Amino acid sequence: MKHSILVARAIFPAVLDRLREHFDVESNDADALWSAAELIRRLQGKQGLFATGERIDAALLDACPQLRAVCIMAVGYNNVDVDACTARGVVVTNTPDVLTETTADFGFALVLAAARRMTEGEHFLRRGAWRMWRYDMLTGCDVHGTTLGVLGMGRIGQAIAKRGAHGFGMKVIYHNRSRLDAAIEDGLGARYVDKETLLRETDHLVLVLPYSAASHHAVGAAELALMKPGATLTNIARGGIVDDAALAAALREGRLAAAGLDVFEGEPQVHPDLLALSNVVLTPHIASATVATRQAMADLAADNLIAALGCGPNAGRPPTPVNPGVLAKR
Ligand code: DGY
Repeated sequence: MKHSILVARAIFPAVLDRLREHFDVESNDADALWSAAELIRRLQGKQGLFATGERIDAALLDACPQLRAVCIMAVGYNNVDVDACTARGVVVTNTPDVLTETTADFGFALVLAAARRMTEGEHFLRRGAWRMWRYDMLTGCDVHGTTLGVLGMGRIGQAIAKRGAHGFGMKVIYHNRSRLDAAIEDGLGARYVDKETLLRETDHLVLVLPYSAASHHAVGAAELALMKPGATLTNIARGGIVDDAALAAALREGRLAAAGLDVFEGEPQVHPDLLALSNVVLTPHIASATVATRQAMADLAADNLIAALGCGPNAGRPPTPVNPGVLAKR
């Protein structure tokens, strides 16, 4: 008998077709945003969930005892209580690697856009304010040859560092829970520093660390106060890592030159103080959004779900489990 799965959001039709080869699939073609209660209701009798940012916690798991696999189409899985899943024998998977370069491209684009006032310039032009050349019109700050600071040196952080060091001749410093091997540091041209040094010495700070209780407001008022006057900050990691109200204050007061933000506390809401500022580039959580990368993420999430529920050529061996110990016990 086929397993039953729920696909919580609209997804590429070809991916749905592939899932239907293995499972009875309930999909959400209308892309409705379901409440937690609705999600629980629809998960009844389902063994698998193809998820994105849905909150998966102990209460949901207890209400859905048949669930065996939660396969996320994202690299970040802070919306999932992995310990609760592990305790109940539910395998969790994510989609690392396939989005690394695409996300790093976007992070670097935000650094450039913020430093060089690109969206501000576009708005200026569109509202008809451009009259003539002027020596100080929309002057920003340089990126090439400055110091790039990376907080969180996983795969995406390393891809950002590579762009900065090799593409823009930047001095790269980083801080991370654990230091990289010397050979990797050398290859990237990156130097490990403590967090305070990172904040003090960086011209362009990029945040790429995973969100957890420990990284909540990792950059708040105290950290922003340590940053160089005129520095920029880019967040492509998760909302909540930056205290958005404190960031807005630093931008409003001109202590930071600019920011590039793809993620926000409480998104899709954006702090009104940020919306009121012109020196911040705001994008709606799209760092991984190229057609090819979203396709690869969806394919990998589907591969994970098919294998996690014991189907396909990799039955029992999903390619990218977050809690592989669950599989070992099956
Ligand atoms: C990710 O993959 O974690 C992106 O932020 C999309 O959620």
